[in-house]
Amino acid sequence: MEDFKILLLGIPTWYYGELQCDWSESLPMLKNINFNKKIIGLFGCGDQEDYSEYFCDALGIMYNFFKKKHANFIGKWPIHEYHFESSKAQANKTHFFGLPIDEDRQSNLTNTRVAQWVKLILSEINLKNIIRYSLFSYIFLKKLNTTY
Ligand SMILES: Cc1cc2nc3c(=O)[nH]c(=O)nc-3n(C[C@H](O)[C@H](O)[C@H](O)COP(=O)(O)O)c2cc1C
Repeated sequence: MEDFKILLLGIPTWYYGELQCDWSESLPMLKNINFNKKIIGLFGCGDQEDYSEYFCDALGIMYNFFKKKHANFIGKWPIHEYHFESSKAQANKTHFFGLPIDEDRQSNLTNTRVAQWVKLILSEINLKNIIRYSLFSYIFLKKLNTTY
């Protein structure tokens, strides 16, 4: 993971709001990785009906983990088509921290959601790059200006 600047991570939820074991067992290893300024997009499977109080909680758990390690995030996703009681993946009144995929209750929406989410993250990555390079050019030109 350390070699990649952009990470798209799939994080399913299991056993009443828990991380699936591949993720929970990897936490000690992940603690030693530097995620500072890495760009992260999160998605994950959940079930908004049978696990309505814990809908895609694992996505929120990992968001908080990477947030503490100073990652930057892309791909926040609107909540309006989902029906659930509570979710650690919910960022605010309107959005999730990433893309919840519900193959149990809304599998008919998965393809469109994924296609739109991919478009969204591509535009956000481009925007971040434009801002980064504009800032870099600005600093570079400023330096040139003060040198000559
Ligand atoms: C035992 C069990 C526990 C689950 N717990 C949750 C949960 O707490 N929150 C949630 O949103 N989904 C939960 N789910 C739904 C799964 O995330 C969902 O079914 C997912 O698509 C499973 O992926 P898989 O079929 O590839 O294993 C649970 C499913 C099972 C079978």
